[in-house]
Amino acid sequence: FKVVVPPHPLINHWVSVLRDQDTPTHAFRSAMGELGRLLAYEATRDWLPTAIREIQTPMGKAVVKSVNPVEPIMIVPILRAGLALAELMTSIFPSTRTFHLGMARDEMTLQPSVYLNRLPDRFPKGCHILLVDPMLATGGTVAAAVDLLKEHGAEISQIKIISAVAAPPALKKLNERFPGICVYTGAMDQTVNEKGFIVPGLGDAGDRSYG
Ligand code: PRP
Repeated sequence: FKVVVPPHPLINHWVSVLRDQDTPTHAFRSAMGELGRLLAYEATRDWLPTAIREIQTPMGKAVVKSVNPVEPIMIVPILRAGLALAELMTSIFPSTRTFHLGMARDEMTLQPSVYLNRLPDRFPKGCHILLVDPMLATGGTVAAAVDLLKEHGAEISQIKIISAVAAPPALKKLNERFPGICVYTGAMDQTVNEKGFIVPGLGDAGDRSYG
């Protein structure tokens, strides 16, 4: 089990914009997108097969290394809040496929339920999947989503979780249930309150993204 908080000032910066209660909806969503872009960049360092070839520049021959577009990165945003975090990910990779997963947590019981599942019947063997959800609070939602990915043929070693803020209960649950899984997050916070909100966190990421 690995949790990575990439040490980069821009990551700290966009998290600080998200945390600020005075950040309006459009700026919140754009900060979420930027954070997602940076985290996806970090998470896929060892995931993108490259090929070396010779091409012609306007000035002569050059040997270049480029990412093989035949193996798209699979992006699975958990609606709603995951949409904002995944927004710019499609633009940093030469090739991606996006599969939406709609999940809502009951406000009283905190149990997640699935209201939309656009996962493929089977993920291709060996593909790479970014599971995207800004808030890992009790971890109920993300754990149920990983179970679903597994039901659709994904192996734990193929999945990396991208989040904005992660809290100890979620990390504990992921570690216990999926010991080999990797989490890339903008920040780690201390606690989850009795209503299931991360403290200090950034509030309700879905509401703040979409008003
Ligand atoms: C929030 C958040 C996560 C989940 C985290 O979603 O975006 O998906 O709760 O909580 P957990 O770790 O305790 O399961 P919510 O159900 O509010 O849906 P939304 O994204 O549509 O607002």
